[in-house]
Amino acid sequence: MPPNRPRPLPPFIPGLLLLLLLAVAPPPAASAVGVNWGFASSHPLPAVQVVQGLLLPNSVPRVRLSAASSDALAALAGTGIAVTIGVPDALLRPLAASTKAAASWVHDNVTRYASSVRFEYIAVGDEAFLLRHGQNFQPFVVRAAENIQQALVHAKLASKMKVVVPCSTETFQNASTLPSKASFRPDVNKTMSDLLSFLSNSSSPFMVELDPFFSFQHNKNLSLDYYLFQLMSHPVKDGQNKYDNYVDASLDALAASLTKAGFSDMDIIVGRAGWPTDGAVNATPAIAQSFMTGLVNHLAKKSGTPLRPKVHPVETYLFSLLDEDQRSTASGGYERHHGIFTFDGQAKYYANIGQGPKSLKNIPDVNFLPSKWCVVDNNKDLSNVSSSFSSACSNGDCTSLLPGGSCSGLAWPGNVSYAFNNYYQQHDQSEDSCNFNGLGLITTVDPSVDNCLFPLAIRTSAATYLHLTLAMLRLLVLGFAVFLFIV
Ligand SMILES: *[C@@H]1O[C@H](CO)[C@@H](O)[C@H](O)[C@H]1NC(C)=O
Ligand SMILES: *[C@@H]1O[C@H](CO)[C@@H](O)[C@H](O)[C@H]1NC(C)=O
Ligand SMILES: *[C@@H]1O[C@H](CO)[C@@H](O)[C@H](O)[C@H]1NC(C)=O
Ligand SMILES: *[C@@H]1O[C@H](CO)[C@@H](O)[C@H](O)[C@H]1NC(C)=O
Ligand SMILES: *[C@@H]1O[C@H](CO)[C@@H](O)[C@H](O)[C@H]1NC(C)=O
Ligand SMILES: *[C@@H]1O[C@H](CO)[C@@H](O)[C@H](O)[C@H]1NC(C)=O
Ligand SMILES: *[C@@H]1O[C@H](CO)[C@@H](O)[C@H](O)[C@H]1NC(C)=O
Repeated sequence: MPPNRPRPLPPFIPGLLLLLLLAVAPPPAASAVGVNWGFASSHPLPAVQVVQGLLLPNSVPRVRLSAASSDALAALAGTGIAVTIGVPDALLRPLAASTKAAASWVHDNVTRYASSVRFEYIAVGDEAFLLRHGQNFQPFVVRAAENIQQALVHAKLASKMKVVVPCSTETFQNASTLPSKASFRPDVNKTMSDLLSFLSNSSSPFMVELDPFFSFQHNKNLSLDYYLFQLMSHPVKDGQNKYDNYVDASLDALAASLTKAGFSDMDIIVGRAGWPTDGAVNATPAIAQSFMTGLVNHLAKKSGTPLRPKVHPVETYLFSLLDEDQRSTASGGYERHHGIFTFDGQAKYYANIGQGPKSLKNIPDVNFLPSKWCVVDNNKDLSNVSSSFSSACSNGDCTSLLPGGSCSGLAWPGNVSYAFNNYYQQHDQSEDSCNFNGLGLITTVDPSVDNCLFPLAIRTSAATYLHLTLAMLRLLVLGFAVFLFIV
């Protein structure tokens, strides 16, 4: 979006008050907090800009990459930022099948960068145990992790980084069960035993992925206060223990499950914890800020949980850095709006990602496509517009139109315009992507209303190339005309 567009400002504390606060209470140590950085975007910001314009200026100490993006790794080289890289689910089967494949994965994605990138963990799979994945990945994940570990040993990198396997709370927690009653799901019992032995043998922690918003949506009897670390008059009672927040209850459900499986001492890393800002009711920047601030402050207290007093997660990765318009919407459309920053690197709210009490720094000088939008042509007969609307939404991203979303208030046909524009931007503003059986219209007037932004896409190198070639073509035609004129 153009930099002159108004955005909700983060809440500012007057300077003097801030100084006073600083003098009294030292800012919480954020060293164990990191941020997830994913790549499911149609028009991602250049990795160099993300590192130089967001991560470094905001003193982010560690990132977890969803995959071994070579651009991101090259941009992180020499920065000292600790890096966890993910192995996508689709690679689990081939990596489990062959030690050679694992060796070349490590060679291509790790060894090449190991002298300049500070690797910390390799996260194998992306919640391979989710119920909705069935047996697609579960049978391969442990063997894939073992093969990667072996390849690291051979590459003499095993002492520098550890292999972990991200697991969602679904593997052990049933929100209608109390933490002390939790145990690993019977259908993952065998795989989980193998996994725990593997982790234990390499002194690796258990990486758990928390999805508080999903839990909140599916547990109508748990209040928002419980998820936002607010004082509760009726905390959840579990024997002698009381739980007044979702994070502690989830960590203890895991601790109880680990103990029952015979690994009571295993360390825990939180691989994901965040709150979305769009695409659903209660997905707003203000609530997301409460969650993030509550979480970071809670971790900084280092008080531990009822089952593990004084023991806190080794590391916690906030979810996430940027919005990603291509993320799977299997859990809900809000999945695409988890960014602390918008897709174009502007902070939506305050969160401490390493910079302490200072407000977040935004990415300057984002290179957008021209200020052009595609809207529905109100002068046309719109009786058949709904099929164009559906096709635009099935290719574009219409999650902001969902109930509770930032554009859910748009009346028809404003919501059709939103869909048309999204499709048009995703197709780099190519003229034929605003056709829609003649119902589309390109405009230079920003159609955004209130909080509902009609985005402009970021210029990617492919789009730049298209514009350059068009410009060159025009130049050639012009040159040819001048040539004819002279002759
Ligand atoms: C990592 O290495 C494998 C094997 O060499 C390769 O196929 C893959 O594209 C690389 N990159 C990522 C992001 O996994
Ligand atoms: C959660 O527990 C309830 C009651 O024990 C049970 O009916 C339900 O199937 C469980 N859900 C899962 C995902 O295990
Ligand atoms: C929520 O409801 C379930 C099922 O109705 C119940 O088993 C559970 O104890 C309740 N949880 C809380 C925290 O009240
Ligand atoms: C444990 O690790 C050692 C070396 O790191 C390896 O030789 C051994 O096979 C591993 N055992 C299991 C059960 O994974
Ligand atoms: C698997 O089931 C057995 C028998 O019920 C149990 O002893 C063991 O702890 C379970 N393992 C895991 C990882 O849950
Ligand atoms: C709408 O679609 C119907 C059926 O395909 C068609 O008969 C009709 O002419 C269309 N109307 C317009 C205005 O395009
Ligand atoms: C578009 O807006 C109209 C009028 O408010 C509404 O009936 C329709 O369901 C909306 N469509 C979508 C997909 O949001």
